[in-house]
Amino acid sequence: MIKDSNFLRKSFLEFFQKKGHRIVPSSSLIPDNDPSVLFTTAGMQQFKLYYLGSKDPFKDLHPLLNEPLNTLQTATCQKCLRTSDIESVGDESHLTFFEMLGNFSFGGYFKEAAINYAWEYLTQSLKIAPERMTVSVFKGAAEVPFDQESYQFWLKLGFPKEKIILGEKEDNFWGPTGKEGPCGPTTEIYVDGLEIWNLVFNQYYKTSEGILKPLKINGVDTGMGLERLALVTEFPQQSEKTIFETDLFKDLMQSLKEASSLPQEKLLRIIADHYRASIFLAAAGVVPSNTERGYILRRLMRRIIRFEKVIQLKEEWYLKGFEILQNKYRNFYPELDNQSEILNTFFQERDKFEKTLQNGIRAWEKLLRRIGEKKEIPGREAFYLYESYGFPLEILEEMAEEQGKVVNQEEFRQEFEKHQEISRIGQEKKFGGHGINTVANEQDKIKITKLHTATHLLLAALRTMLGPQIEQRGSDITPERLRLDFPFARKLTVSELQEIENLVNQMIQKNLKVEHYETTYEEALSQGVIGTFKDRYPEKVIVYEIKDSDTGQIVSAEICAGPHVTTTQELGHFKILKEEAVGQGVRRIKAILE
Ligand code: SER
Repeated sequence: MIKDSNFLRKSFLEFFQKKGHRIVPSSSLIPDNDPSVLFTTAGMQQFKLYYLGSKDPFKDLHPLLNEPLNTLQTATCQKCLRTSDIESVGDESHLTFFEMLGNFSFGGYFKEAAINYAWEYLTQSLKIAPERMTVSVFKGAAEVPFDQESYQFWLKLGFPKEKIILGEKEDNFWGPTGKEGPCGPTTEIYVDGLEIWNLVFNQYYKTSEGILKPLKINGVDTGMGLERLALVTEFPQQSEKTIFETDLFKDLMQSLKEASSLPQEKLLRIIADHYRASIFLAAAGVVPSNTERGYILRRLMRRIIRFEKVIQLKEEWYLKGFEILQNKYRNFYPELDNQSEILNTFFQERDKFEKTLQNGIRAWEKLLRRIGEKKEIPGREAFYLYESYGFPLEILEEMAEEQGKVVNQEEFRQEFEKHQEISRIGQEKKFGGHGINTVANEQDKIKITKLHTATHLLLAALRTMLGPQIEQRGSDITPERLRLDFPFARKLTVSELQEIENLVNQMIQKNLKVEHYETTYEEALSQGVIGTFKDRYPEKVIVYEIKDSDTGQIVSAEICAGPHVTTTQELGHFKILKEEAVGQGVRRIKAILE
């Protein structure tokens, strides 16, 4: 049996299935309902709310399954993207896009079973010789104690004491993803000196102020890089080998070499990594732009295009490279079938950048001549290149570094902000953005405020009709209409829609008061208040509450910054215009007030 990446994915998931785990598909690279991070960076993200206890694995629908998980333990092979290591891409083992094999438990088994499973999988299923392994456990820090238990469990397995490294917080304490969330000590497994598996024991919740509070549910969150696992299984004890020689990259690297007239190993690796990442990002629907996710994709693509010139890569390679990736991944990630759309995204960006690239490089060279021996590239000049030729700041920094120079970042930022200010004023004049602050017209402000309150009533009605698992997945309000996305497995019937509309109108007619109060985030959650962005809130939050004055029952309570109307009758008449699908298991309602 060849232990290639297909084998590894399969054997990992089967192993954990046999140990009573439910196999859950990889979630999208764009995290669902988690604005605390731009991308999915770890397998645990889709299970975050189970660790916190704010989602019930036996009651709440899991968005990818359209039913509850019905278990306390799961396993996945998850697509991930991290840009934190982008500078290291090109060495033996760092990547931006990667796949993470993981097993998870939220209130089921804990440290001992997790360590035993990992050991059994590596040494028995994969037959990795124990001599090749070392492990680390958390030695403790001021606010968190030494992870004595993990240490003992390794010893119990017969693991030699001298091969258990006591690690610092930087290496052996994980999380949270984003500013706050679950986190805890880790034990890491190394094979041939390379870290391959990270076992995290979520015991704490880190608040946005940086305080660690014990979690009620003990959680296990493990992550093993598929590419690294492939490296140590395909090339046992061959330290000169790199992940780019594993089956995951071999063909891509070979094709790159063949299509390049001036190949340089490091640049080939960077292009291979970035191209794979870009393809998966485009397949997830990301479009290059100058903000957030789009900016990351732009940076990856523009880096490819810049290096393409250096290694003199033939243009035909891009199609070939895509086909290689498709063959490698399409069985597991069917979104790569969408060839024309994905490649269009790439080529459009390439066209855009190429149009100015040559002139940009000329301007850059001129600038270099102008500043001569000086070490610093003025921020203003860098901003000019960014603005006029589309060089992302990080690319300019790299180009500067190649010349032994640095960009004055502070000055760049000042220029950037000045420019943002100018374009913001332009936007406000154009009018009609989403945010209420950018709306100049008083009339429209009132319309948006009303639709905002109507959105709360609609969500309440949906929960009454369809169940408490309904939550807001997205909302967009213009002066004309509201739009609300929520998870639900099927189309709503005409009579359901009618009933939802009626419920909202009843609440409007009852002229209920819309009140708000300040409380702590934790308190709000414990009262069952809805918070859409569960991990993003500050300690103190505002809750908008609508109570039924007849029954005293709370109709709607949501963490929200407002503004809202003061009584529901102000809304007039509520009408649903449309109900449609916006993705697997996600529905969208558009509605107006008349
Ligand atoms: N969340 C941990 C990591 O990303 C383990 O999955 O390393």
